[in-house]
Amino acid sequence: PVRRITVPQIIARKGKEPIVSLTSYHAHTAQIVDKYADFILVGDSLGMVVHGMESTLGVTLDMMITHGKAVMRGTRRALVVVDMPFGSYEESPAVAFRNAARVIRETGCGAVKLEGGARMAETIRYLTERGIPVMGHIGLTPQSTNVMGGFKTQGRDEDTWPAHEADARAVAEAGAFSIVLEGMVEPLAARITRDCPIPTIGIGASVECDGQILVLEDMLGLNPKPPKFVKVYGTLGDMIDQAVGAYAEEVRARSFPSEDEVYR
Ligand code: KIV
Ligand code: NA
Repeated sequence: PVRRITVPQIIARKGKEPIVSLTSYHAHTAQIVDKYADFILVGDSLGMVVHGMESTLGVTLDMMITHGKAVMRGTRRALVVVDMPFGSYEESPAVAFRNAARVIRETGCGAVKLEGGARMAETIRYLTERGIPVMGHIGLTPQSTNVMGGFKTQGRDEDTWPAHEADARAVAEAGAFSIVLEGMVEPLAARITRDCPIPTIGIGASVECDGQILVLEDMLGLNPKPPKFVKVYGTLGDMIDQAVGAYAEEVRARSFPSEDEVYR
């Protein structure tokens, strides 16, 4: 059995080799991503991507655990990180620990991720001191969409930079092993990456970060309206459309199943 990439190995990449990451929610996609990614995130974006929700706010701990188990079963090499969903960690460090421990225990994943900067520092410290590695997530934090009034790129106004930099510092000092920088202007991501002792993982945060992550379905071409920061590497949407169309045609023409697919 191949040993999975560890949290200390991710930390050691800072300033060296770029960190490769994608999301995954399913065993079969995770099995492919596992060949290439250093860590796989079971993101709460699954609320939108898998379950058709408007935002991530309706995602539950049970949903994260179900998909976390699927990804763990499909992989053996990458570190698997599972998102803590809205409402499962904000109340107190003790509540966060109880729920994060469930995620670790029931899925077997190696770490959890939670959104928020300085305000979550106490919780990040509480979890890491008790054996749960935490990945931070600052900048555009989708679970705060109702407070922010939508998804807005962060750091356009230079006056906001000190607050973002303080968030990154607080998360790192609290013991997080890595930090996602989402939806922020390049010079801010560059400053945070330069000053932060732990690896930064960018999504819509420029090439200045220590690693990159994308939502798998976005980069595969399955999202009809991907955000600007997504590069579309595949045409899975078109491929599924063609395949399903061909199947429907053949069923209607009674040309599927054919000689090859029948038990004699
Ligand atoms: O839920 C998610 O997919 C994420 C990443 C895009 C960072 O949090
Ligand atoms: Na997320």
